[in-house]
Amino acid sequence: MIKNPQTDNDAFKSELAGTDTTDRQNISEKNQQLEHAKADATDQALRTNQGVKIADDQNSLKADVRGPTLLEDFILREKITHFDHERIPERVVHARGSAAHGYFQSYKNHAELTKAGFLQDPNKQTPVFTRFSTVQGPRGSADTVRDTRGFSVKFYTDEGNYDLVGNNMPIFFIQDAIKFPDVVHAVKPEPHNEIPTGQSAHDTFWDFVSLTPETAHHVTWQMSDRAIPRNLRSMQGFGIHTFRFINAEGKGRFVKFHWKPLQGVVSLVWDEAQKLAGKDPDFHRRDLWESIEAGLYPEWELGVQIIAEEDEHQFDFDILDPTKLIPEELVPVTPLGKMVLNRNPENFFAETEQVAFCPAHIVPGIDFSNDPLLQGRLFSYTDTQLTRLGGPNFHEIPINRPVCPFHNHQRDGLHRETINKGRASYNPNSIDNNWPRETPPAAAQGGFESYQERVDGHKIRQRSPSFADHFSQARMFYQSLSQAEQAHVVAGYSFELGKVERVWIRERTVNEILANIDLELAGKVAMNLGVEPPTKGTVDVPQFNLQPSPALSQMNLLPTDIKARKIAVLVSNGVNADTVETILNWAIEEMAVVKLVGPSPAPVKTNKGDMLKVDAAMDGMPSIMFDAMVMVDGDDVSAMQQNGEGLHYLLETYKHLKPLVLLGEYAKLLQQLHLKPDEGTLTGNDFAKLQDQLKQGLLKHRVWAREPLAKMVPA
Ligand code: HEM
Repeated sequence: MIKNPQTDNDAFKSELAGTDTTDRQNISEKNQQLEHAKADATDQALRTNQGVKIADDQNSLKADVRGPTLLEDFILREKITHFDHERIPERVVHARGSAAHGYFQSYKNHAELTKAGFLQDPNKQTPVFTRFSTVQGPRGSADTVRDTRGFSVKFYTDEGNYDLVGNNMPIFFIQDAIKFPDVVHAVKPEPHNEIPTGQSAHDTFWDFVSLTPETAHHVTWQMSDRAIPRNLRSMQGFGIHTFRFINAEGKGRFVKFHWKPLQGVVSLVWDEAQKLAGKDPDFHRRDLWESIEAGLYPEWELGVQIIAEEDEHQFDFDILDPTKLIPEELVPVTPLGKMVLNRNPENFFAETEQVAFCPAHIVPGIDFSNDPLLQGRLFSYTDTQLTRLGGPNFHEIPINRPVCPFHNHQRDGLHRETINKGRASYNPNSIDNNWPRETPPAAAQGGFESYQERVDGHKIRQRSPSFADHFSQARMFYQSLSQAEQAHVVAGYSFELGKVERVWIRERTVNEILANIDLELAGKVAMNLGVEPPTKGTVDVPQFNLQPSPALSQMNLLPTDIKARKIAVLVSNGVNADTVETILNWAIEEMAVVKLVGPSPAPVKTNKGDMLKVDAAMDGMPSIMFDAMVMVDGDDVSAMQQNGEGLHYLLETYKHLKPLVLLGEYAKLLQQLHLKPDEGTLTGNDFAKLQDQLKQGLLKHRVWAREPLAKMVPA
């Protein structure tokens, strides 16, 4: 019997550790025992919430077996009442999320930059809880929709919780928090029919953004590959706003936060994203979960761009404007430390759903800037959580509780858990000897002190003139992309605007937004929509012709290994057992994930007569779930050659620009299906001779040269 050490994760892990896994049955039983041991109620009697042991949980209390149910049945009423209230309101935005536990470790002592404790000791691991999310869709919506992704990290530091609540794009739609309800109302499903779910491709979104030029930069990112990440492990994260670091001497510097995935940055192609939304709506959630279960822990490097206070006004834009980024070529990212996500939540609701992030949760050594979007956020999160989490005591929910002790004079309220002792719930007091007391801000003692910034000016409602240029950076972003990425932006705009029913909204977007970003972009989108291509822009504020920033192109952020990349290995009866074994051993060495995919979920018979267990049938694990595929030949290739689903598998892999290996007779399928051979179509009899080329293909992620041929994007 051929072993597939990756069939279940624990088996894979033991294989990695060199353990013999011949007895699958035992492993599966051990897994079950482990699951049971994890449950917190093993050996416990079933009781009511008041602690009374329950004798019968199958029948309600009735007047005779066929009589009416009695109101006095407190066991029934308690159970149903609790069930009736199991749902809480979901988040207004970012409702769909997936999270994991892990740790952050500083590379060195950064005391020169900040007094924040978690950035001092390189030997210390600070626990973190990280939640990724989409913005638009509800809690049950699909993962792979075109959307900005939330990237929130809660650091449980010894000085209190620090929340870095960012996104996977370095800029935001709007400049002032007062516009947030507008942009969210515009992008959410339309109010009359609640369509579409999880998408910005509809009239109200494009109506708003075409009337609000400050959104131009973020919308261009939203139309790019960044809005359809391959998985959550391959996303960059950004704090977006300018923040401040303050060191023990009180010296402040402006900083912008960056998370760089050590897995590289890669995306889906649009056709894949759309199909995945139906075939596996949990695609991103599942990938994160399975990677962590398999011990393939995703990692990100945290870094900052540092701007000296005296350089605040040295840029072509205002560093307080959240629709602008600072090109890394101008201010490089200084690495601070690494985050590793290595533990899945035990309970989705208790942790992922109840976690409450807030940009106002900062610790000594970090402070805000006057970015007007950030200033509004500081109020909004706790305010919304009061409703979502049912009162003012949600900081006591385990996932939100700081790991350091916390005492104050706040009391009571809905769902209070702490039983406060003592008489004095005020300060100053003499009854409890004035405890709990304030802590002076001196570094050694750690009281929080706001950065002392001089502020004077008129009380006004006005946008700073330094926020007026909305197009130069959108143009810079577009022009920094590779040809393939630019084509995707054109396709993104064309698809979305094609869903907009009102022609004037399409025209306004082309003429008043796109024409100001880049005339070529505007022209291509106009052609695709049948709109007159514009010949000039309409903008009247000074524009900058910024240098392209190579750091913005995903082509420059590709992975450096194939750890956790996914390969479909297609097998059918008569399959060559030795080849399968060679592939599996290679994958283990590379820490890539292989799934054996068959014509049906039933095991297949190898050329040696052994039964080989498959992970799924082709329709259960379609090609869109993988980064590459291998078709393994054997004694009988006719089954796959004449199998419509098998041929579709190959066609789709090709169409989605993935590397593929066709062994033996299967090489003929290229000709049969009229597929032009290229650097990503590998054929031969010996997998070992092709494995390095397959690896190179996976590192490049896609065969971009194939794209025009596969007609994946409009011209
Ligand atoms: C740079 C701009 C912004 C970024 C990066 C951002 C990011 C996020 C993220 C990542 C979440 C999900 C947190 C989680 O995982 O639980 C979130 C939730 C939320 N955001 Fe923002 N947001 C931004 C702007 C704003 C603004 C301007 C407002 C309002 C003034 C706002 C209000 C909210 C609300 C109400 C929630 C739901 C919070 C909850 O129920 O826990 N956001 N945001």
